[in-house]
Amino acid sequence: MDIKQKNKDLNLLFEPDLFREQGHQIVDILADYLQNLKENKTQTVLPNIDPKQMMDIWPGEFSAKGDGQWEEDLNKVINLSNHLHNPKYIGHQVSAPLPFSSLIEMVGTLLNNGSAVYEMGPSNVIMEQKIILWMSKLIGYDKKADGIFTSGGTIGNLTALLAARQKMFNTNVWKNGVFNQDNNYIMVSSQSHYSINRAASVMGLGERSIIKIPVDNEFRMDISEIEKIYTRLKKQGKNVFAIIANACSTSTGTYDDLNEIANFCKKNNIWMHVDGAHGASILLSDKYKTIMKGVERADSIVWDAHKMLLMPSLITAVIFKDGDNSYKAFSQEASYLFNKKPSEEWYNYAHRTMECTKKMMGLKLYLSLKNFGTDIFKTHIEYTHSLTKNFANIINNKDDFELAVKPQSNIICFRYLSKESNNRDLNNLQVKIKKRVLKSEKYYIVQTDLNGLTWLRCTIINPLTKIEDLNQLLTYIIEVASSIKHD
Ligand SMILES: Cc1ncc(COP(=O)(O)O)c(C=O)c1O
Repeated sequence: MDIKQKNKDLNLLFEPDLFREQGHQIVDILADYLQNLKENKTQTVLPNIDPKQMMDIWPGEFSAKGDGQWEEDLNKVINLSNHLHNPKYIGHQVSAPLPFSSLIEMVGTLLNNGSAVYEMGPSNVIMEQKIILWMSKLIGYDKKADGIFTSGGTIGNLTALLAARQKMFNTNVWKNGVFNQDNNYIMVSSQSHYSINRAASVMGLGERSIIKIPVDNEFRMDISEIEKIYTRLKKQGKNVFAIIANACSTSTGTYDDLNEIANFCKKNNIWMHVDGAHGASILLSDKYKTIMKGVERADSIVWDAHKMLLMPSLITAVIFKDGDNSYKAFSQEASYLFNKKPSEEWYNYAHRTMECTKKMMGLKLYLSLKNFGTDIFKTHIEYTHSLTKNFANIINNKDDFELAVKPQSNIICFRYLSKESNNRDLNNLQVKIKKRVLKSEKYYIVQTDLNGLTWLRCTIINPLTKIEDLNQLLTYIIEVASSIKHD
């Protein structure tokens, strides 16, 4: 085949009619998938297949001409994936996305407008700016606030900490690096997400710069401990430049006392960052948002829309109370992209984000907010939170279960109690229960360790989950536990 013929084949793949046909087929496959879940025809939540088996399922050799089996493969990948729209998916903090937002995500992937500079993705850049302003208002920030979207809470936390460091250190870190900066520390909750430690190490400060603050009985950072530890560090001549508050924590879904932490930060001139990756969406609920009182005093906040705002991954807002600080993390010059002072080019996000080619992240959230309104998001938050509280009440009334702590959000930790077991046996039992539950493919739950005890952990994040699903889970856990005892 000559090169002209080959090109013709390639061009055919861009034919609008072919796209229309494939698009309809793909939407049909996905709609059938959702329908089967709705009618309970798909009862599995995850595939019980180990990585080695999966390696054998997916061939790694690609022929020159292809096999033309995309439909078959698509059905296969759906079957062999986790089903987040199954009401019995109550595992990690990943949303069951609004189907509409997933379709819009696809639009973003076809348009493929890089959104780090206005010139490359004009509409999306402005949509992102509008969402940042909308979120800023919900936080309670004034007009000075500004921020950007980035790919996930992990990069979001890193971005905020980079800005905090540049603002709080008395040297230009961008130019001079971190030489002789090993006297600087970050205070975090002992319950903080691992992305914070990771950020400190990536920043060249090392995990040694992380000072873990113990938590109280409800897993909130203990304010008196903050004071005590800070005084000790000061006496040793150490400089704490930032405190990270959880809103909420990953393991137990607990909100730190943001007002108290803000008081402390103000008194001691420390940057306050709020990790709201999971929990900031609670700001949409008048009923529950008071738990975040004080957030408007934080210097920066991270907020994931792919957790509690029903969006497909990834879409994370990093917002700064003083928008000028959003330019502190990255200070690079790139004449082929930028012409003016960074703040004069607020629409060129590359001044403020790690990413160069940036996805059209805002599009899906902007159109969902504009099209459906904010109430559906509020409903989602209030429904999942009150369902979690109901589930906690049920657990509290059962002799054979125990709660780790009363849930403040839609994350709940509990364990099955077996009368004859000590804590070590109980820990092993929870691990076995979780393994068996996953093996059954009937529910997706996870586990976590708190103060040396192992707990089963659920995030009730799927608006399709009902109290019956949770009751059935408890019944199933009892069944599983009894089969483990008889092994
Ligand atoms: C509190 C908290 N911060 C940060 C992250 C990391 O976010 P991402 O998974 O979007 O990188 C998570 C993820 O679970 C989280 O719970």
